[in-house]
Order: sequence, then structure tokens, then C-alpha cells
Amino acid sequence: MINLILFGPPGSGKGTQAAKLVEQYALLHISTGDLFRYEMSNDTPLGQEAKSYIAKGELVPDEVTIGMLRNKVEANPDVRGYIFDGFPRTIAQSEALDALLAEKEGEVSKLIMLDVPDDEIVARILNRGKTSGRTDDLDEDIVRNRIQIYKNETSQVFDFYAIKEKSIKIDGVGSVEEIFNRLCDEIDNL
Ligand code: C5P
Ligand code: MG
Repeated sequence: MINLILFGPPGSGKGTQAAKLVEQYALLHISTGDLFRYEMSNDTPLGQEAKSYIAKGELVPDEVTIGMLRNKVEANPDVRGYIFDGFPRTIAQSEALDALLAEKEGEVSKLIMLDVPDDEIVARILNRGKTSGRTDDLDEDIVRNRIQIYKNETSQVFDFYAIKEKSIKIDGVGSVEEIFNRLCDEIDNL
């Protein structure tokens, strides 16, 4: 299996690149943010629970997110591997992911972080907000809160996998195609 964590701050291009990587490597793309938005649009109990956190740009509690991720993985057992986008965002989520993959006799192959400066991220997200339909993309305070939470809580996930010599950082500024080529260089060397 190839199991990639596409990592980086909100607006760093994870979703855009994951869509291209899926075509190239035939992996299953799992975006926990997209899963939450699907649940919210269907007004399910899970969506209702997640809603208040997402509206403020805060993290949904680990047990909720981990349970949702586990369901998605278990519903798709016969795949070559997964691209995790927006997950894990905490150490507890990282430990849960490792345990889940170990059950499948797999492991995280690599965590690749898309490195993008704050000002560019804010500009990208506010621009995306014009068409994404995401209320959490519209308000600069919420966007900055999401970035702060990334720094305070999520960036530790990079270190968690760095200790296992699995984390790498690539330049996330450039054209979609340039960044895609940088990612492919890393994945082809796995
Ligand atoms: O990954 P994305 O930026 O699309 O996630 C949108 C929102 O969903 C986050 O700002 C956060 O509120 C919530 N989320 C979360 N935990 C995750 C993924 C997303 O709380 N692992
Ligand atoms: Mg995304």
C-alpha cells in the first residue's frame, strides 16, 4: 500500500493536488473536511455536531473525526492506498491513523507538507471563498483562527512523523503543475 498524508495549512493546495495525485497513482482520496461538509449538507447528526466547530474554524473533537475517518477507510478496503487530506490534525488522530493502518498491515508511507507563507494562504482562502460556498472561507478572522490552530495543534503532526523519518516539506508556492511535479518526484522515490 501507498498511504500518503498530504499536509499543510488551510489553503495550501492539498485538495487541488490530491485530485491530481488520485489520477496519477490510483489512490483513494479521503478529505475529512469534504466528509464533514457532505454530512452538514445532509444535516445528519454528525453534520450537526461538527457544524459549530467548523463555523468558528475550530477542530471537531478527535473521537468524532477519528470515527468518521475509520468508517470511510473500512468502507473502502480494496484500494492500493489512501491520500489523507486534512487528517490527521492532532497527535491523537495520528496515533489512531497508525493503529488503523496497522490493522490493515499498512503504514503511513510519507507525510508531505505543502509550505506556503501565511499572507498567501489568507489571500488564497478569501479568494476561494468567492466561489467555494464555504462560510469558513469568507471571514478573515475565522481564516486566521484556522491558521493559528494549525500552528498550535496541527503542526505537531509534522514532528510526530519526522521522528519516524517520514515527514518532508516541499515548496507549495508556484503553479499547480509545478507543485504537482514536486509531489510526484517525492512519491516516485518512495
Ligand atoms: O480540511 P478542511 O480545511 O477542509 O477542514 C475544514 C474544517 O473542518 C476545519 O477548519 C475544521 O473545523 C474541520 N476539521 C476538523 N478536523 C479535521 C478536518 C477538518 O476539525 N481532521
Ligand atoms: Mg481541503
